[in-house]
Amino acid sequence: MKRKVTIVGGAGNVGATVARAIAEKELADVVLIDIADQKASGVALDMYETCPILGSDTRIIGGNDWSAATGSDIVVITSGKPRKPGMSRDDLVRDNFEIMKSIAPKVVEHCPKSIMIPVANPLDAMAQALYRLTTFPRERVIGMAGVLDSARMSTFIAMELNVSVENIHSFVLGGHGDTMVPLARYSTVAGVPITELLPKDRIEAIATRTANGGAEITKLVGTSAWYAPGAAVAEMVEAILLDKKKILPCSVFLQGEYGIRDLFVGVPVKLGARGVEEIFQITLTPEEDAALKKSAAAVKELVDVIGM
Ligand code: 2OP
Repeated sequence: MKRKVTIVGGAGNVGATVARAIAEKELADVVLIDIADQKASGVALDMYETCPILGSDTRIIGGNDWSAATGSDIVVITSGKPRKPGMSRDDLVRDNFEIMKSIAPKVVEHCPKSIMIPVANPLDAMAQALYRLTTFPRERVIGMAGVLDSARMSTFIAMELNVSVENIHSFVLGGHGDTMVPLARYSTVAGVPITELLPKDRIEAIATRTANGGAEITKLVGTSAWYAPGAAVAEMVEAILLDKKKILPCSVFLQGEYGIRDLFVGVPVKLGARGVEEIFQITLTPEEDAALKKSAAAVKELVDVIGM
């Protein structure tokens, strides 16, 4: 049976990029839901019209009618205000929380068995809001951030060492904010940790650029990024729909893992047909552990602002 992925906020840049990636890989049919009803319908039609060229039988529809989303396997939530230059992701917390409050009941009504992938910022707090508001099991609420942050780190390592991105595996943990934790020891080039290949100051520069990766794009483009975030969501969608059991860093509700409780924070998880199938606990040095705890504390502050 054909699978179905609904993308809420689907007429926006991130949503449309996810849809396009799903169509290219023919992973599922796609429903773009957006309050910009006509735009969603137009974006969907434009994208559907690429499918004969792509050789893809993905069907794409768009609008603001949630009945089209009924029975979706995955619901990606990209709705929300984007960042403007100079804003931090945290500046969006109250406005985007209101938007999550309007979306959660729709997901529960139309897609009660779906796996949700929150994308709106501040990511970890919005994931927590959607988890609390829908009361979905934690296995089915998986925030997208670590895949994006790790991709940014891999890009910067590839630039630095002039090697193929395919040789690079990066690991970024923590909240999707300024306090994220790029883990150099677990970031490798052809299996060799970058700590063996680069001096400390270059690693620090890469880590800082990674943490500021979203702001860098926002400053250049005037709004938040979409190509890399969209590709990151698509990788998660593929891992789930194809039951790949792929280990990816995602924001999930921790209940004691890494010494963190009742909070969404980015950690490595196994993604498969059931959503989060396992949370991997890797050994951290005291410094790494302290950085992760600091990042979790920053997420907690935001979660407290919205009372979730
Ligand atoms: C970013 O980092 C959109 O938060 C996202 O670009």
